[in-house]
Amino acid sequence: MKYRQSTLGIVVRFAMIFALIISFAATSMAAGNVKKGKRKYDEFCTPCHGKNGQGDGTRMLVEKFDPAPRNHTDGKYMNKRTDVQLFKVVREGGKSQNFSHIMPQWKHILKEKDVWNIVAYIRSLAVNPAWSGQPDPPDVKK
Ligand code: HEC
Repeated sequence: MKYRQSTLGIVVRFAMIFALIISFAATSMAAGNVKKGKRKYDEFCTPCHGKNGQGDGTRMLVEKFDPAPRNHTDGKYMNKRTDVQLFKVVREGGKSQNFSHIMPQWKHILKEKDVWNIVAYIRSLAVNPAWSGQPDPPDVKK
């Protein structure tokens, strides 16, 4: 009985380790890690792009950038952009991709992997292509 129990214990432990390895492998195979991307985005991008990615960060409110930092929740626009296009804007800066020079270049600060994680996070902000990112107009009350 004792022998059977410990055998079962070993099998269970192996199964758990196996499951762990598989889940690590699956995570590292994905293009970007949304959670890690959010962490970097919160640190570097929210001053301009806003804490929810709507282009209304505190720096934007003070400096009134024109054009305004992109609203990353605007699915109508954002979902037309490819991952590679977003990656390039972030790495090389707005100017290099014919956008505003106000959008900084991040390649000296963020690793390639960080940028892919950020792209994955940005993707998670604009999931509905039909949604403009703007709240619905309030109902007209009589
Ligand atoms: C100093 C303010 C500022 C900061 C900081 C900033 N951005 Fe921007 N960003 C902008 C502005 C302004 C634009 C709009 C450029 C335009 O429309 O020409 C923009 C545009 C973008 C776009 C849209 C590109 C496209 O395809 O239309 C992406 C993606 C982006 N920023 C990502 C980031 C990320 C990621 C960070 C942080 C690592 C970041 N930005 C930090 C100002 C900023």
